[in-house]
Amino acid sequence: MCGIVGILGKKPVAPLIVDALKRLEYRGYDSAGVATVEGGKLDRLRAKGKLVNLEQRLDENPLSGTIGIGHTRWATHGAPTEENAHPHFSSNVAVVHNGIIENFKPLREELTEAGFSFASQTDTEVIAHMVCHGINQGLSPEKAVHECVKKLEGAFALAILFREHDDLMFGARNGPPLAIGHGEGELFLGSDAIALSPFTNKITYLDDGDWCKLERDGYTVYDIDGNEVSRETQTSVGASLMVDKGNYRHFMQKEIFEQPEVISHALVHYLDFAEGKVRDIEGQPFDFSDFERLSITACGTASYAGQVAKYWFERYARLPVDIDVASEFRYREIPLSPNGLALVISQSGETADTLASLRYCKQEGQKIGAIVNAKDSTIARESDAIFPILAGPEIGVASTKAFTCQLSVLAALAIQAGRKRGKLSQEQEEQLVQELSETPRLASEVLKLEEQIDNLARDLSHYKHVLFLGRDTNYPLAMEGALKLKETSYIHAEAYAAGELKHGPIALIDEEMPVVVIAPYDHIFEKTVSNMQEVAARGGKIILITDERGAKEAAMDGAQIIIMPDMPQIITPILYAIPLQLLSYYAALHLGTDVDQPRNLAKSVTVE
Ligand code: F6R
Repeated sequence: MCGIVGILGKKPVAPLIVDALKRLEYRGYDSAGVATVEGGKLDRLRAKGKLVNLEQRLDENPLSGTIGIGHTRWATHGAPTEENAHPHFSSNVAVVHNGIIENFKPLREELTEAGFSFASQTDTEVIAHMVCHGINQGLSPEKAVHECVKKLEGAFALAILFREHDDLMFGARNGPPLAIGHGEGELFLGSDAIALSPFTNKITYLDDGDWCKLERDGYTVYDIDGNEVSRETQTSVGASLMVDKGNYRHFMQKEIFEQPEVISHALVHYLDFAEGKVRDIEGQPFDFSDFERLSITACGTASYAGQVAKYWFERYARLPVDIDVASEFRYREIPLSPNGLALVISQSGETADTLASLRYCKQEGQKIGAIVNAKDSTIARESDAIFPILAGPEIGVASTKAFTCQLSVLAALAIQAGRKRGKLSQEQEEQLVQELSETPRLASEVLKLEEQIDNLARDLSHYKHVLFLGRDTNYPLAMEGALKLKETSYIHAEAYAAGELKHGPIALIDEEMPVVVIAPYDHIFEKTVSNMQEVAARGGKIILITDERGAKEAAMDGAQIIIMPDMPQIITPILYAIPLQLLSYYAALHLGTDVDQPRNLAKSVTVE
């Protein structure tokens, strides 16, 4: 989604803004722009496409000025053109915006009647004109900004500049995050701490409804009623982590290969290996034995982690789980039993639909547990308990290490729930903890399959459609495999529970439809093999991901087989995710797509 940067600095800010915007590239964008103020003049440069295009323009026509705002735009209203790129101007005001202004149509009509003309199709331009309208009517910049934000409906993070003022910037937040960064005689605005990391690690996050005024020698935060409020300033750990690709070609590749390490961090946090038990998480204000039902909500990859967890909570803790994607859950008016427990899963902790589901659950009296990567995020802050996944910054838009860390944490919580609910004996818990502790070592083994998977991916990249099949926890994993392939390589992929094949999808099978089957040798392996035979009988090409025993028992002539190490059942979803990630990564590489920032996608989806 869009990214925002603002700098009130001491030296020319345009190149610094571009540098900060580069750190927001991972969020996904399709155009970018910068505006500065100098000598009573507002100036801007914008460009369609990647930041290199904007940089080129800045090289040709440098922007001077020690105060400026910048933006990477992920198009919502209006195509990704230069005219629609931010900053948007009115005669004396410049604005950048992340989010969606839901009432922009009536506001646009009002402003058109008042004589303003619009140069873009965006919802954002109304903000520039509204503030300008206020100024034209004699309001101070402060008052004009306040009047404007009071009228806006929807989601927004804003940074605003004025033509006449080279020591004044405003920010506002309702929904998408916005942080003030504190420097020495300098102040910054940014969508997240990573954007501001070259400048400072001292960060103040605005709350929803807050707006702020920045001048070089200080800042003030106000609530929506205009009362001065104080917000905590924190030292961001994320900010000190320089995010680079190391020796890898892409962040996605780096993040796939980081998995043994980050999964190990996550497990050390949740498991007490010496005692053979799941730790009681510090500050966990609830006990799984207090609840008779659990609801899980999330989006995309995080929702597939939730679907795997449903099998685990039901199997190991006998705790029934309702799971839904957050965009459906939030509007379903679902009755929730009083004092229930809701888990929300989100890498970014900012996904708008997941946040709305969290708020719905809270309103319905649920306790909230958040499984998040970003510990400073809105979802984390609004939850009763935070379960960090400790994956470190995930920059590749396609989620990889966050997924396996989410699964690692959820597996630990399901075991904890099993013990607390009296469904697992001490010995069973010890056994499961021991099995989970094998995950990092086995993940390193699985990564050795890279070359074989690269070759398979080369073949796969010639097809237009791919089917993924699995049963039990491998069914959500099949969905994750299909999602990953779609996102990174743009190959159409679908996933089915293997048993559903006969109920329709089998009609699709012919020699042009490769089928990826995820089937470790387990209690339902034979059933999956029957489904594979049905595919083979119709000329379908099979890629089977299994283990030694599975490969032997399946005896599928003509199938291409990825042989995974032997492993306990509980960790198969974590580790079988890795070949699926590699398959998508290499398919994308062979097709030459933009692996880390696939078209149309955003890392942090802060609008619904
Ligand atoms: C897929 C992917 C998305 C996210 C989804 C939720 O690779 O990254 O499907 O999983 O947008 O994002 P978070 O976890 O940040 O809430």
